[in-house]
Amino acid sequence: MGINGLEETPLLNLLARYAERGGERWHTPGHKGRRPRGGDFLKWEYDITEIEEILRAPHVVEQSQQLMAKSYGADQTWYSVAGATLPVVAGILAAFPFGATLYADRNLHRCALSALLMAGYHVRWLYSTVLEAGLVLPLREFPEDFSGAAGLVVTRPTYDGLAAPLESVIASAHDQGLAVVVDEAHGSHWQGAEYPFSAIGLGADLTAHGVHKSEASLTQTGLLHLKGSRVSPWQVERWWRMLQTSSPSYLLLASLDRLQWERRRGRLAEDWRHLAGEARQLWEALEQRGVAVLQKWAEGQGFAVDPARLTLLGDGADFRKRLSRFGEVEKTTPGSCTLLLAPGQKLAEISRAFENSRPASGSLVELPYPVLPTVMSVREAWEREGRWVPLGEAAGCIVKEALTPYPPGVPLAVPGELLEEHVLEWIWRWIKTEPGPLEGLRYQEGRPMVWVVK
Ligand SMILES: Cc1ncc(COP(=O)(O)O)c(C=O)c1O
Repeated sequence: MGINGLEETPLLNLLARYAERGGERWHTPGHKGRRPRGGDFLKWEYDITEIEEILRAPHVVEQSQQLMAKSYGADQTWYSVAGATLPVVAGILAAFPFGATLYADRNLHRCALSALLMAGYHVRWLYSTVLEAGLVLPLREFPEDFSGAAGLVVTRPTYDGLAAPLESVIASAHDQGLAVVVDEAHGSHWQGAEYPFSAIGLGADLTAHGVHKSEASLTQTGLLHLKGSRVSPWQVERWWRMLQTSSPSYLLLASLDRLQWERRRGRLAEDWRHLAGEARQLWEALEQRGVAVLQKWAEGQGFAVDPARLTLLGDGADFRKRLSRFGEVEKTTPGSCTLLLAPGQKLAEISRAFENSRPASGSLVELPYPVLPTVMSVREAWEREGRWVPLGEAAGCIVKEALTPYPPGVPLAVPGELLEEHVLEWIWRWIKTEPGPLEGLRYQEGRPMVWVVK
């Protein structure tokens, strides 16, 4: 039965059921469904777009963007109403000419892949390592010699909040004439000694933020920050006009305006600091109950870590079920479960979920990245003729459509890569445990099929 006694609004019904259930939200967006502490500053009546009054006064958005830039120490900032996707895609396209050669983190979100495809870049992949649990660790090693390349694209942090050490590589890339674009989608809230330093402060030319992933702004809000003079702001603006909707919701933009105000008044830093302390206490409580915490381990390995991400290692499905008594998690893999934490949330319930039994502990074995040979560029594979083959017969085929578990949205195989058994085995494991959808697969008579180059 729907909210109006009708079955005709399936989406509204789902949302109404979800809201009624209550419970903690350990997932995006960062406001967690709570009303902002300063009262309801966003009103239904504010949901307008480019009316004449605004078209004649575009400087109000520019003013707000400039204040936001100031709050992050950037030279210029643009507001996105298309999450981090627009900042990542427009940032890459603005920074590098079509057909350029780029070094890119293989642990990239599928939105970055679309920029690589659109501009026909030649990519030299950089591989990190992975954990047996199905989690990618950040890049630790970078080439010393970038000759022949125009740029470097890095995802930092990983979905689980682990940050690559970028200080010296940015300096070295700049010395060699490269621009650096950092997908910091999950790091817009970083401030203070308890969190990693933002790439903006480390000198990245462009840094993309998915603000809604952590902060109390509305879903679909994002930011792109420019620092320095290697990338022209005009190029960013051209791509922004090309890719952003021409009717942005001013409700979304207003939630960013409020955020820049809160940041500049220093209202958020203390909240995030407090959360970091509580999260670290929680790591200990969980470990006493036999649950290994990725972030604690990673900190011990010398990584900079975001304590607002909590990844429990073990049977992801079991953990999700235990926690579902108290709330909803962000993502699971066959070997892990990740929660996104925000100030004001009750963390005690997380360890209560493991009170009466010791769960099977997860694996922290570090393995090489499951590299697939690159046979052709992303663009060439996209353009070639394709055919559907059953997953069981796909070894040795060249991928045409990326295969991407969601979340985290990092493709296991990108167009142009040759499928090998080790990745196919992981895909089977994913299908069997069903932690989430696997984009790129199509089912024919119950059989998973993949689209490969003919
Ligand atoms: C690393 C990374 N970059 C970019 C994105 C795209 O962000 P959005 O969904 O806000 O458009 C995501 C989404 O999960 C992500 O994890």
